Amino acid sequence: MDHHDDGQRVLKHPLCSRLFHWGLILGFLPAALTGFVIWYKPGSEDFVNLAMKIHIAGAAVLTVSCVLYALLCLDRIAGFIRRNFSWDDRDVGWLLVGGGYPQKMLLGKKILVPPMGKVNSGQKIFGLCLLFLGPVLIVTGWILYAFIPLAPKELIRITNTVHLVLGLYMGLFLFVHMFLGVYNWGEFKAMFGDGTQPLAEAADHNPLWVDKDIEPVAGRGTEKNSYVQRA
Ligand code: HEM
Ligand code: HEM
Repeated sequence: MDHHDDGQRVLKHPLCSRLFHWGLILGFLPAALTGFVIWYKPGSEDFVNLAMKIHIAGAAVLTVSCVLYALLCLDRIAGFIRRNFSWDDRDVGWLLVGGGYPQKMLLGKKILVPPMGKVNSGQKIFGLCLLFLGPVLIVTGWILYAFIPLAPKELIRITNTVHLVLGLYMGLFLFVHMFLGVYNWGEFKAMFGDGTQPLAEAADHNPLWVDKDIEPVAGRGTEKNSYVQRA
């Protein structure tokens, strides 16, 4: 595809995905932050108890968001799974140079990076972690919430350890995601704005996606959302 910078935009994140992302911010993020407090106990008992209340409120928002997304946007989840499982030689090349981020951030040098699709290899790893570890984190969390007095002590001990280790790991991963989400300002504006991005910018960041997976919106040649992802 020929990508001129003629004001055309591509819809990268449809409304349902942007709303789900807000669900993750209002649910997963407070759960992750308070998880650190519950574990490290940096303040008084009252402070840790408050953190626990926020943790459970965040957990509820997270769980409802995931259920609604699964019920209403199953096709988006299918796409997310497909993208995160498609790996080839380019991903090895991308990982070997860290996506060019260390060179850009530390040396101010833009190096050649293997072309990526809608998501890069780092995002694929983050996505796979969410797909595999997210449900375990949610299920172990509700077990700890509801069954501590009822379940055998050993089971609770194991559940607690799994929840703690995955929670800390995912929490740290999340901060990397947030940092890069803001660092890549164009991506930030697309996710937190109307979901669209200038076509030329998408072609630079996601060349394979722009080449293969998007199509013009019929009859709306030069309008805002003039390109969308193929069904
Ligand atoms: C549906 C989601 C979740 C529920 C229901 C939930 C529930 C809980 C509960 C009940 C505890 C207290 C365990 C205890 O009394 O020892 C806890 C602790 C914790 N949670 Fe969650 N949680 C959820 C999601 C998360 C998420 C998304 C993270 C981080 C990304 C997280 C990280 C932690 C951490 C680090 C602890 C401290 C564990 C410890 O000190 O042993 N949780 N969670
Ligand atoms: C304020 C905090 C956050 C910021 C600034 C942020 C930023 C972003 C941005 C810019 C994107 C689009 C990336 C792209 O298209 O290249 C994105 C996608 C995404 N974010 Fe966040 N995010 C935040 C919080 C979260 C939280 C709490 C989660 C939950 C774990 C999360 C999970 C995701 C996922 C799953 C995607 C989709 C990746 C994909 O396109 O496949 N984000 N985020």
